[in-house]
Amino acid sequence: MNHEFSTPTGTHVRTLLILGASGDLTGRLLLPGLTRLIAAGRAPGIALAGAGAPGYSPEQWLARVTEVCSAAEAEATDAGRAELQKIRATTSYSDIDVTVPGELSKLVATLQGPVALYFALPPAVSQKACEVLEPGELPESTLLVMEKPFGSDERSAQELNRTLIRLVPEENIHRVDHFLGKGTVFNIMGLRFANRLLEPLFTAEHVEKIEIIYDEELALEGRAGYYDRAGALRDMIQSHLLQVLGLLTMNAPATLKERDVRDHLGSVLRAAAIAGTPAESTRRARYTAGTSKGRPVPDYASEQGVNRDANTETLAEVTLNINNSRWAGVPFVLRAGKALGRMRKEAIITFRPVSHLPTGFKGTDEPTRLRIGFGPDTLELDLDVNGPGDLYTLDRVTLAAELNSPDLLPYGEVLLGVLSGDPTLSVRGDTAEECWRIVDPILAAWANNEVPIEEYAAGGNGPLGWETNCTLPTS
Ligand code: BG6
Repeated sequence: MNHEFSTPTGTHVRTLLILGASGDLTGRLLLPGLTRLIAAGRAPGIALAGAGAPGYSPEQWLARVTEVCSAAEAEATDAGRAELQKIRATTSYSDIDVTVPGELSKLVATLQGPVALYFALPPAVSQKACEVLEPGELPESTLLVMEKPFGSDERSAQELNRTLIRLVPEENIHRVDHFLGKGTVFNIMGLRFANRLLEPLFTAEHVEKIEIIYDEELALEGRAGYYDRAGALRDMIQSHLLQVLGLLTMNAPATLKERDVRDHLGSVLRAAAIAGTPAESTRRARYTAGTSKGRPVPDYASEQGVNRDANTETLAEVTLNINNSRWAGVPFVLRAGKALGRMRKEAIITFRPVSHLPTGFKGTDEPTRLRIGFGPDTLELDLDVNGPGDLYTLDRVTLAAELNSPDLLPYGEVLLGVLSGDPTLSVRGDTAEECWRIVDPILAAWANNEVPIEEYAAGGNGPLGWETNCTLPTS
């Protein structure tokens, strides 16, 4: 990607203003992502400002920024170290209520522009903040950076898009999906389109099934306020896993420029739909008390802040189809869950059997499988070979590579895109709506109890019977 540090209008972002400065996202992901970017000398001249609600002080903000900058300095280039020191010396903090008309634009007017406004706030607050802004109130070069979830269904995503587009042009709206900044996710394009061995094989003629699995060991981790209203389907599948699906199935773009990549992603996601009725093609479950990594995990429903009657799923699995000539008939299984016994973050491409296996081979003939690991970043190709040992017996062999972790954290990649005004790594407005269009029928069926909510013990492998639908892990 070509990060030239200029917005589509030719200027570059001078100030990153983080709204929600005291929040968990800012401390855990945004500031570390940003400071590593600065340490690498890749965000020259950027200024940082924070804003938050009463109860948080400029001193607390400075302490937070100082701590993260110091951690990043250890690995910084000379230029990067100087930039980090400048950030510490110049960062500012403002106490404002972004939902009060006029407050946000007044603050933006005091900052050196173009300003990127990062809404690291609960979705409802971000939306309200944008609704109270009037067209023309922000300079047109302002970038709006929205965290997921972008809306809560197709209609609300459409409304939010209408709200934002009144304020700035589409290319200045960054709907962040940090998965697109993950090394092995964006590199799916290189893997697919730069290798003659793989490029022609990603079609229904050769692929039997694609699974995208994101099993986490982490449980609720104090996020009931957000997670209990989202659930696994909204939290992971509607956003991150659909983007991965898009990269695995899109046609090859002519270039890696924003327009080409996002047109192709949008086009393939427009063809995606649930494979049958929700009752046939989806499952949901919620964890009960258990033990994970030697740690007791309480019953999800009894956690503070959880509405036990909301039936929020902590594990979801959906089967989709892509109704176009390249992928007709291939099942795509997307699964994401919390509090599982084993972390498993991978896409598995299962190829069809050869058209004829020479008679005489013994042993088990298993399908060729390509596994792309999203953490750790790995690539594995499972093949059958005859030997060693008996010459006529097929055995399994795996060609495996561990990929170097990228220099930047996923949030660093995403921020690099934001600061350079390149929206390639963010989700375009129409695609954000499409992703809801795909899951809306599932959400409706679940709300209607057409699909029972099952249970699984925390630290286990999910409900009994679910293992049959997904390929087993390698070891
Ligand atoms: C976030 C979800 O977007 O992605 C979390 O809200 C999830 O629930 C996380 O744990 C997974 O991403 P990563 O990069 O931490 O594996």
